[in-house]
Amino acid sequence: MIDGKTKILGVMGDPIEHTFSPAMHNAGLKELGMNYIYLPFHVKPERLSFAIDGAKALGIQGFNVTIPHKTNVMKHLNQIDQVASMIGAVNTIQFIYDEDIESSNQDNEINVTTKGFNTDGYGCVRAIEEKTSIKNKKVTITGAGGASRAVAFQIASSGIEELSLLNRNLSKAESLVADLKTNLASIGIDIGINAYGIDDLKRELSDSDIFIDTTPIGMYPNVDDKAIASADMFHEDLLVNDIVYTPMETSLIKEAKLANATVVPGYKMLLYQGIRSFEIWLGREAPVDVMEKALLDVLGI
Ligand SMILES: NC(=O)c1ccc[n+]([C@@H]2O[C@H](COP(=O)([O-])OP(=O)(O)OC[C@H]3O[C@@H](n4cnc5c(N)ncnc54)[C@H](OP(=O)(O)O)[C@@H]3O)[C@@H](O)[C@H]2O)c1
Repeated sequence: MIDGKTKILGVMGDPIEHTFSPAMHNAGLKELGMNYIYLPFHVKPERLSFAIDGAKALGIQGFNVTIPHKTNVMKHLNQIDQVASMIGAVNTIQFIYDEDIESSNQDNEINVTTKGFNTDGYGCVRAIEEKTSIKNKKVTITGAGGASRAVAFQIASSGIEELSLLNRNLSKAESLVADLKTNLASIGIDIGINAYGIDDLKRELSDSDIFIDTTPIGMYPNVDDKAIASADMFHEDLLVNDIVYTPMETSLIKEAKLANATVVPGYKMLLYQGIRSFEIWLGREAPVDVMEKALLDVLGI
């Protein structure tokens, strides 16, 4: 029940009406009996700084941030976590309020620390690690957009041996790989990372352990689009993760099943990025099963 002590979490984006996050988070909050509510906020780009200031004034505890604000919001935050800083995008904000209200009133400022995190890559890694360890593995990723960037930085800093990044526009893959190498070197990580065009996918998959497709190919309504790879390019020891989550069984997942490869559906990344955000805000373990069921229900799966 909402009462005078209810605390607020939320997600802001433009558009926002199709978000699946409120169902997942509110189910988790209810399960733990926490007096919180998670709400969607439609925030236009030109109102982003007002939204952050307004959130501070209203005592909001945490936000998820989605398209188009993930990068622009960073300049409005006090602290950025190392992974989010390398990725150059934030999808989770934690608001930490100073208890000393009197001193904050004196200088007419709201004493609140805003910390930015990126849990998208974490979501992907945890989804894969449900099935297999990623340590010392060769990983191949297709796509070099925003999702690829989050996944590639997290996965490359999680103990893998080698990463191949393939994109239709090769120069975009090369630029992401150069960025990865520079940032990873700054934290002492030195692994083989290479950029290729999509034509090299069959060769790269032949000795890969894990394949992650971050392109939108096969996403609803284009469910009949030809997958980026076919069954003959896979082997039985390969794990195939399509991060598209509508539909659950994409054309790529169908090809992977034909090859008896291990599959990880895209909704798992969505689930675990939310689980991590929940745990950052509430400082306690999230009820994964309940949140997964709520997410599957709202996805209509
Ligand atoms: N499961 C989750 O939690 C989760 C989270 C985030 C995103 N996603 C999904 O991930 C997908 C990508 O999102 P994004 O933000 O990274 O998009 P993005 O920034 O627009 O990047 C899309 C990438 O896919 C490539 N691509 C697009 N169409 C292609 C095609 N027909 N053939 C080959 N490559 C193609 C693009 O290549 P070029 O550079 O050559 O154009 C680009 O590298 C979306 O479907 C999104 O819904 C899922």
